[in-house]
Amino acid sequence: MVNDIVLETWTKSGETTGLIRHRNDEDTKPLHAYRSQVLVISMIFSVLIITFLMSVIDFWIDDDQFVQSQHAIVKNKDHLAMKNREYFYQCAPIVSCDYSDKYRTSNGTCNNPNNPIWGSSNTPFIRLVDAHYSDGISKLRTSSDGEPLPSAREIQVKLFLNKQIRIPDKNNQLLMQWGQFVAHDVSNLAIDTNGEDCCTNKNELGVSRACEASIKIPIDDPVYSKYNITCMRFTRAMTSNNYSCPLQPLTFIDDASHFIDGSQIYGSNDYVVSKLRSFTGGTLISVLDNNQEFCPRSSFNSSDTNKYLYNSGDSRANLNLGIALFHNMFLRFHNYVAFKLKIENSLWSDEKLYQESRRFVGAIIQHITYTQFLPIILGKNYTKDEVLYGNNKYDPTVNPSTSQEFSTGAFRVLHNIIPAQHRFIDSNYTTVKIVNVTDWMNCPYLLQQGSNYDQLLRGLLSTEGRLSQPSYNPLNTISMLTYLPGNIASIFE
Ligand code: HEM
Ligand SMILES: *[C@@H]1O[C@H](CO)[C@@H](O)[C@H](O)[C@H]1NC(C)=O
Ligand SMILES: *[C@@H]1O[C@H](CO)[C@@H](O)[C@H](O)[C@H]1NC(C)=O
Ligand SMILES: *[C@@H]1O[C@H](CO)[C@@H](O)[C@H](O)[C@H]1NC(C)=O
Ligand SMILES: *[C@@H]1O[C@H](CO)[C@@H](O)[C@H](O)[C@H]1NC(C)=O
Ligand SMILES: *[C@@H]1O[C@H](CO)[C@@H](O)[C@H](O)[C@H]1NC(C)=O
Ligand SMILES: *[C@@H]1O[C@H](CO)[C@@H](O)[C@H](O)[C@H]1NC(C)=O
Ligand SMILES: *[C@@H]1O[C@H](CO)[C@@H](O)[C@H](O)[C@H]1NC(C)=O
Repeated sequence: MVNDIVLETWTKSGETTGLIRHRNDEDTKPLHAYRSQVLVISMIFSVLIITFLMSVIDFWIDDDQFVQSQHAIVKNKDHLAMKNREYFYQCAPIVSCDYSDKYRTSNGTCNNPNNPIWGSSNTPFIRLVDAHYSDGISKLRTSSDGEPLPSAREIQVKLFLNKQIRIPDKNNQLLMQWGQFVAHDVSNLAIDTNGEDCCTNKNELGVSRACEASIKIPIDDPVYSKYNITCMRFTRAMTSNNYSCPLQPLTFIDDASHFIDGSQIYGSNDYVVSKLRSFTGGTLISVLDNNQEFCPRSSFNSSDTNKYLYNSGDSRANLNLGIALFHNMFLRFHNYVAFKLKIENSLWSDEKLYQESRRFVGAIIQHITYTQFLPIILGKNYTKDEVLYGNNKYDPTVNPSTSQEFSTGAFRVLHNIIPAQHRFIDSNYTTVKIVNVTDWMNCPYLLQQGSNYDQLLRGLLSTEGRLSQPSYNPLNTISMLTYLPGNIASIFE
């Protein structure tokens, strides 16, 4: 039994050494050490894409006919009829569209004239492969003998404890931050909670449906045993049932518009949008502090710290310092674009200025994602051949929705490039502060003090990232960041 985490490699090398600032062309190639990862990810993507194409074909030719899943446990046609179309048959609202309208709707409707609901907020994630529940409908998967699967935490510790080797990436920390920002643009799975704490008394595994996926922590856990914690909060997600659409097997709904459209900045429905717009000059509401512009504050303080939170188009804007920084940055960017457009077009209305600025910002996010971000993540060649060019053209018959597999699996792989620390760097490029990412969860007020916004941005820009690797990083596993019961996370501060 291992009693202590070995932090040796981690602390000796330090998490944040300065980024080599002079990059050559070599650096922009997929990194050598990264290659096997990229390969694996590319392979996963290829498999997903092929599976997706197959399911699209399945759409056309095999609409209602049951296709036997390879993994089917309950061989019941009615239960296993996984069809992405079911929602559209049974529950999709009728949408009326004004096709003379030049701008995207906030909720993503009317993008595709033939299927105006496709890709809009509050519609299901599509599934690339069949659902796999132990009862075919909703129950968690079990081992072949019917027993619960082993605890994820137990597997994590067994496989990865002390395997940590910190490999710095030549890409800076903005790579990670961009990923999370885009993730929140296209994907927002609501957790099913009525305020119930799934780990009451720090020990008890929950029993309600929402709590049945709570993660059991072995009593000899190298970290949690010290605090007698044997339960990790992990809450099941809302299903289409919670959105008045009973579908089987369980189907999950994306609260965000599925398109890359800046919805995390603006909101994925008209109500949120109306709360964020100033309705003058096309700008978003902001506050000025010390001559710097910031997001408006939410009417709710953080329940952990009672410090203020930012209000934005996405509920996760305060999750960590980096994402909060991005929300402030894009608020400023939107308002800057609106200001510039107004100077050039003095007769434009607030509405016109807002929509044109939003259109501009959304296009920039798409551009950066496809031309800068994806080539690093997937490799330049793969992106060039398979994603951007080649035969991959817009096809109006393909449902553009975010897939369950992408949001729950593939894109979360990049959680393993989250660094443990951020650096604050002043205008002379001197590091003035290093913070632990975990110390600033749901607590963004630090950004607004002094020159911290500029310094953190400089820090993300000039600090090497963490290379994607299968490892157990004791200081920044997502579980430690968010799934500890109650306020226990403060123990680690
Ligand atoms: C400090 C940085 C980050 C933190 C603290 C963080 C934390 C989280 C948490 C707590 C969840 C919810 C997990 C669940 O309950 O199932 C989540 C979901 C997710 N994360 Fe991250 N994350 C970070 C960065 C990233 C990055 C860099 C990416 C990708 C490039 C990413 C992609 C995702 C995706 C796709 C989801 C699912 C979103 C949804 O559909 O609701 N995250 N993250
Ligand atoms: C989506 O937004 C449009 C206008 O922005 C609105 O008319 C419509 O009701 C919203 N929801 C749906 C499901 O269409
Ligand atoms: C954990 O439980 C043991 C036995 O009940 C107790 O002696 C110990 O003080 C507890 N430790 C903490 C940190 O609560
Ligand atoms: C969501 O639906 C499930 C049943 O599918 C139910 O148990 C749960 O209470 C609902 N959650 C909310 C927040 O309504
Ligand atoms: C929220 O936190 C701020 C300090 O950040 C405090 O001044 C304010 O009173 C708090 N509001 C509430 C409702 O607790
Ligand atoms: C990318 O493609 C170029 C030209 O086909 C080739 O020379 C290079 O080796 C490829 N790079 C990788 C990493 O596969
Ligand atoms: C940067 O260096 C210059 C020259 O040494 C100094 O005057 C200035 O105050 C420094 N700026 C910061 C932010 O420390
Ligand atoms: C960050 O975490 C490390 C490891 O727990 C700790 O040694 C260090 O003091 C922390 N830094 C700050 C600024 O709290």
